[in-house]
Amino acid sequence: MKKLLIIIILALSACDDGDVMETINVESSGRTVKIAASVSGIENWPSGYNVVVAGFGDSKYADISKNIFTATADTLVLNGIGNDVKTIEICAINRLRERIATFYENDISNNNEAEIILDASAVQADMFSGIQKTLFNPTCAACHGGGKSAAAGLYLTEGKSYDALVNVASSKATDGSVRVVPGNAANSFLYKVVTGTDGVLSFDHSNMITEEKYVKLIENWITKGIE
Ligand code: HEC
Repeated sequence: MKKLLIIIILALSACDDGDVMETINVESSGRTVKIAASVSGIENWPSGYNVVVAGFGDSKYADISKNIFTATADTLVLNGIGNDVKTIEICAINRLRERIATFYENDISNNNEAEIILDASAVQADMFSGIQKTLFNPTCAACHGGGKSAAAGLYLTEGKSYDALVNVASSKATDGSVRVVPGNAANSFLYKVVTGTDGVLSFDHSNMITEEKYVKLIENWITKGIE
């Protein structure tokens, strides 16, 4: 051990100042973010997705990201954050590093501190929470329980949606279809509705979820995400 230390000291002192400085600069370039967070639900995502702490610029693809593996309370550290990064997120990304669902977000575009300390506290990051936040809340809840009534008796509001979908019979299908059949997207009425293949609804839902990655998210949740 002592020998190793001496060798390192010798090696360092052998370099001229310029070289040493250069190395240090490269390692410490960019900002560092430290987020106190307790993230749960990570293990619920199937392969093809990762729950990460990530930096985004103007694009929907992460500039920089680091996988989160443990669900326990922790300080998440992300180093080397460049100037193009505007938001720091705890989110799920796909294989293309494309943002799928965001669970925590902080705008750091005006923060030039070398070390940025954030507090996300408890973050529920399971797959269904991702669907709720990304799709149901902004696109569906207004008609399905967010206002005076729930269209077709289906609540897609936070806290009610899961129990209203999984293993529950459709109120509109004439063939006994079930809204969500765990493990079987093709037989799930929800999937037929969002892909416009239900064949019975008077209200066409096929243009509501247009992005392929979101149709895939629902499909993957039904086939691989329900426990
Ligand atoms: C503008 C209002 C509106 C919005 C927004 C809306 N729906 Fe609907 N939805 C309806 C109506 C109305 C029906 C019943 C249609 C009928 O009676 O044929 C329905 C029926 C359904 C059904 C069939 C329920 C059953 O038990 O048979 C599903 C599933 C569904 N919607 C899912 C969704 C999802 C998912 C979204 C968001 C992506 C969504 N809806 C957004 C109005 C809406």
